[in-house]
Amino acid sequence: MTASPLDNLSAQTDELLATVAAFDSLEQLVEGEPFVTGKRSILSALQKSLGQLAPEDRKDAGALLQEARRRVEAAFDERRATLTSAARAQALEADRLDLGDVVVAQVRAPYTAGHPGIVAATQRQLEDVFIGMGFTVADGPEVESDWYNFEALNIPPAHPSRGMWDTFYVDLGEPETVVLRTHTSPTQIHLMEAAVQSGTLPIHSVMPGRCYRRDTPDARHLAAFHQIEGLVVDRGITFADLAGVIDTFTRAYFGADIQSRLRPAFFPFTEPSAEFEITCTLCRGEGCRTCSQTGWIELGGCGMLDPAVLEAVGIDGDEWSGFAFGFGIDRCAQMRHQIADMRALIENDVRFLRQFS
Ligand code: PHE
Repeated sequence: MTASPLDNLSAQTDELLATVAAFDSLEQLVEGEPFVTGKRSILSALQKSLGQLAPEDRKDAGALLQEARRRVEAAFDERRATLTSAARAQALEADRLDLGDVVVAQVRAPYTAGHPGIVAATQRQLEDVFIGMGFTVADGPEVESDWYNFEALNIPPAHPSRGMWDTFYVDLGEPETVVLRTHTSPTQIHLMEAAVQSGTLPIHSVMPGRCYRRDTPDARHLAAFHQIEGLVVDRGITFADLAGVIDTFTRAYFGADIQSRLRPAFFPFTEPSAEFEITCTLCRGEGCRTCSQTGWIELGGCGMLDPAVLEAVGIDGDEWSGFAFGFGIDRCAQMRHQIADMRALIENDVRFLRQFS
């Protein structure tokens, strides 16, 4: 019996099938195609060699080769389908991961819902305390003109007291005319103007919101922080009313064991003015790093409305008097939860944030 080019066909076919089964990526499959079913495959070489056979043998040999090719091509198509769907599943999985840890955490049990951040939660609690004391809550813009942030508050251009607020100026209009508000006090001006216009004095309001100062963040300061402003304009208001509100607030919010004290201070828009301090909650007054060993933490400032401010908004200072206060919401959160370093509030470390859910 003469040797036929197809003598080893069975073993060669098995080898091709094994090669196809071993492709484990679409890239390998594409690269391998010429060698298993294409022009450079043994099947194509055998096809050419059929010409050497005696004419009567060619038909059967051709049929054998066709059958071998059909098997290899079928295996190849099946492998391609498998690898394509695996690649698609992998791409979907990658997309899902791209949505972030939060989504992954929610997809896997146990389900955890988000919660308000500590500063937002503190702001709401503070609003609640003041609403309970008869105040309403108002809002003001974070981008202010120089007039609202400074001039109407009795802080003229180039006055040395401007140094109390390290200002971010917005590149808009004339230089240094538009600012990111350095405190919530400009909202006092908006409220008084509106009340004068609509004839709705008196005012008993608190105004929470974000403020900005060109400050280097440290244990007690952030460059973007939050204040809550208080404003009372009524008839016959005295400093005793102011001290009473501050004291009532401190007890309601921090508890009866935390003291408040007022220390003489200066603000251009209040006269007399005071700084409002509370016992440091981290050391209970002993002195620690957070309170710079003083035992006290300054929450903010306060005072009786300066006649110049009433005049700026057109309120008759003979009929009306009032007081204002403004203090840090972040500082309150820090004191309420005994957070040694305020920068933790903006670092977004979920291990920290989760403690306040
Ligand atoms: N606006 C002042 C500050 O940010 C605080 C303050 C508010 C003082 C109201 C007096 C009255 O420092």
